[in-house]
Amino acid sequence: MKLSFELNAKRVDVDVPERTTLADCIRHHLMQTGTHVGCEHGVCGACTVIVDGAAVRSCLMLAVQAEDARVTTVEGISDEHCLTPLQASFRKHHALQCGFCTPGMLTTAHALLTEEPDADRDRIRDVLSGNICRCTGYIPIVEAVYEARSSYTKK
Ligand code: FES
Ligand code: FES
Repeated sequence: MKLSFELNAKRVDVDVPERTTLADCIRHHLMQTGTHVGCEHGVCGACTVIVDGAAVRSCLMLAVQAEDARVTTVEGISDEHCLTPLQASFRKHHALQCGFCTPGMLTTAHALLTEEPDADRDRIRDVLSGNICRCTGYIPIVEAVYEARSSYTKK
């Protein structure tokens, strides 16, 4: 099935079987492999991308549902020349170890701070509670997101 949407600020056209998930479309057809796939059941949050401003689990969404949408992956919130303030904060706070959960943590945090740059630790914890990390114990992740708030501005 042919579909077209905006991926990381670029229009993309892709032809995928009807039942292809957005995660598989992004990774296998559009070769943006920053989005990770863990559970494939909507539980771990590793596959989180931003669709029209909202953090969504790309393993639970069909690619065809993204027709004409604005999809942003971890690549789209990165800078190829340097770390973004959010990424730098993750590094500073040792908020990643194996890194498998990190794309989902970054996209979830980015979606939150874009809407709520004054989110407090409880709010950050609440929003990130749907993202599983098997390595860090979460406290460094919450601290990293909290410190990165200053790089986001209120709308
Ligand atoms: S791979 Fe999508 S939530 Fe786990
Ligand atoms: S850093 Fe390993 S799963 Fe989170």
